[in-house]
Amino acid sequence: MNVALQRPLSAVDLNFNPPRFPVGQLRDSAREHWDLEVELAPLDGERDQNHRLTTADGASYVLKVSAAGESEGAVDFQVAALRHLERQAPDLPVPRVIASKKGNDREWIIAVDGARHMVRLLKWIPGVPLSRGNPLTLNGLRNVAAFQAKLARGLRGLFHPHARHFVAWDIQRGLLLEPGVQAWVADDAKALCADFYARIQREVLPRLPGLRAQVVHSDGHADNLLRTGSDTDEIVGVIDFGDMVHAPLVQDLAVTLASFARHGEMSLDNAVAQVEAWNAVLPLMDDELEVLHDLTLLRLATALCLYDFRIHATEKPPAWLTEERPDIVRSLSRFLALDRAEVHERYRAACGRVGRAPKDIDIAELRERRSRSLGPSYRLFYDRPVHLVRGEGTWLFDAEGRRYLDCYNNVASVGHCHPHVVAALSRQAATLNTHTRYLHDNVVRYAERLTATMPEPLRVCYFVCTGTEAIDLAIRIARVVSKNEGVIVSDDSYHGNSNVVGAASTCMYPKSEQPAWLATVPPPNGYRGEYRYGTPDFGRKYAAHIDPAIAKLQKRKQGAAAWVCDIIFDSNGTILSPPGYLEYTARAMRAAGGLFIADEVQSGFYRTGEEMWAFRYSDVVPDIVALGKPIGDGHPIGAVITTPAIAAKFAAKFSYFNTFGGNPVSAAVGMAVLDVLEREGIQQNVIAAGKVLEPGLAKLAARYPLVADVRGKGLFWGLEIVRDHETRTPAVAEADRITNLLREDGFLLGRTGAFDNVIKIRPPLVFTPDNARMLLEGLDRALAQV
Ligand SMILES: Cc1ncc(COP(=O)(O)O)c(C=O)c1O
Repeated sequence: MNVALQRPLSAVDLNFNPPRFPVGQLRDSAREHWDLEVELAPLDGERDQNHRLTTADGASYVLKVSAAGESEGAVDFQVAALRHLERQAPDLPVPRVIASKKGNDREWIIAVDGARHMVRLLKWIPGVPLSRGNPLTLNGLRNVAAFQAKLARGLRGLFHPHARHFVAWDIQRGLLLEPGVQAWVADDAKALCADFYARIQREVLPRLPGLRAQVVHSDGHADNLLRTGSDTDEIVGVIDFGDMVHAPLVQDLAVTLASFARHGEMSLDNAVAQVEAWNAVLPLMDDELEVLHDLTLLRLATALCLYDFRIHATEKPPAWLTEERPDIVRSLSRFLALDRAEVHERYRAACGRVGRAPKDIDIAELRERRSRSLGPSYRLFYDRPVHLVRGEGTWLFDAEGRRYLDCYNNVASVGHCHPHVVAALSRQAATLNTHTRYLHDNVVRYAERLTATMPEPLRVCYFVCTGTEAIDLAIRIARVVSKNEGVIVSDDSYHGNSNVVGAASTCMYPKSEQPAWLATVPPPNGYRGEYRYGTPDFGRKYAAHIDPAIAKLQKRKQGAAAWVCDIIFDSNGTILSPPGYLEYTARAMRAAGGLFIADEVQSGFYRTGEEMWAFRYSDVVPDIVALGKPIGDGHPIGAVITTPAIAAKFAAKFSYFNTFGGNPVSAAVGMAVLDVLEREGIQQNVIAAGKVLEPGLAKLAARYPLVADVRGKGLFWGLEIVRDHETRTPAVAEADRITNLLREDGFLLGRTGAFDNVIKIRPPLVFTPDNARMLLEGLDRALAQV
């Protein structure tokens, strides 16, 4: 907090006793100093004594007499601001300062007690305060914000030594946080602000001195802004410059948002419209948008505090104080109840930070153009596809600023747009990007760091760009080394999309089309496969299916080149390899002269918690490990890791080059992901979140018969949805409805399995235990509706 701004509040600061000069003396003063013959009519004023003056020819003015002891600097500051606006923003309807006969901007008037008071004259601005008449329309609210933005723009460049003066309403003082101030605040307001004080003090006030700052009006209030009539929306003037102060620019908008939240029906939509209108005149910066909502809360809280102070410190508090107080409590409670991240995102969207402004986006048109230009092969998730424009951690945001908890995207492993990864990418992209035919430190260090996570002798790394390429290269190496062609995968497997790997992805096409070099084994599905949970030696029994598959390949003269195993059988509905399974299958494949390829594209990088690589739950060290998806936190990277002996055999026949695989930028990104994994407690988070999901999902299964089987580990779970526990009929439509309901509720999940009836939970690895609890609540709501 800016210490210079801090001093204890005293009753003098809030001296609301304007002077009481007799009308006759004021008339004399107008004549003496401004040569005017006038009629006088009293006006409201908190600190000044104000009168409207009218001359015989109809000209109108405001005569302002300051309280005795009012600082000359404060009045000079206001005069300087109005003069500055007259020069810099001549079209803005602000009061003009009328110089006296002597050419002074202010004169003196002496009270009966001998006290000297400053007196000055302003031109009257015709208009009706917004607080009178009909509530403002949305358009009117926009006009207010645009007007305040123009006023702020007009005040730019104003310097005055008094600009840092004490103003009790000044949000940057964080007045409400002073213990002495809190003493006056009534208990209901204290309770309301209890959590909020600490956060503002910790997270918001320290940031204010770093924001763009200038003199701001800081009082864009319905009593100070004028319109032409009681039901019009056009702003024709602003009065009262007494709260002006040098402050972060965004403070002025926060004051406006807070003030208008108190008038009429407060809604976030109104605030968003005001932010948009302000931004159109005076574009907001990212760091300003970050604090805007909190400053608005702080302004409302400050108002509450000052109302309570006046109610307690004034002998006869004016009635409006107690009348208006409930409005402030109500608007503060409503603003506090809003989801801060969502408010922030809506404000950002309103300022065009995410794609185009929401009103310009036509989803139907985008879909139409998409299907025209991308063709019919591409699919979209959900009945109402999501138009995502931004991601942060476990959150995704759509074009309207709505946020979704990402429970599905494993690719953003360490969180969407992790700043360390983004910085590494940008830094290297701005330095050099070439390929592996030049020496570069990054690719070597990355290979060393990646292989160091693997057991010996897995020490050689090939870099590619996708999981598909990794599996493709792995199969190629296996074929060269084994001198065989045959490949074994599970039924309904998915390993990628190239010619060879697409054929090894049996979930993607009819069994009748499988090539002669391919054989399949059933996945070890204990819920609906040949051997069910509880069958003794269940893993080995499934594993034994590899023997006839090898025999089949040998009979077809293909031989056995590779057994490609997705260690978590994702496309089969999330099935962890059971004990003994990998040991048996790897041994059988090697005995037939082939290689064991662990596809860790899904299961790797701590997905399952206790181990970084899922093959490590077994005793098997694969011949080749294929990596992809989470490896680059969204950047396209794939890797093939094998032993020096296998690499030597492959190199004896083939050299290898991949234009983009292993480039310095990708290597920098890959290393940044490893940094985050090492430094940010990712593994512990996966384990902790998994410990919330495991019992929580089991409870849902116990409550909802639709959920027949829950399986998984860490942050990889499948919920098998069935119609009937006896027949195990897949409830495909219900699973679809559940994911769509969750999408509408702000949770993104997917489906998998041979029947598409397994709900897949596979979030970024930074999905916290709290996120897990939110998801469980969301699942509960969705399941209750199906
Ligand atoms: C187990 C597995 N292997 C390989 C791949 C292919 O990865 P990519 O889409 O990056 O080519 C996938 C993709 O979903 C996969 O799930």
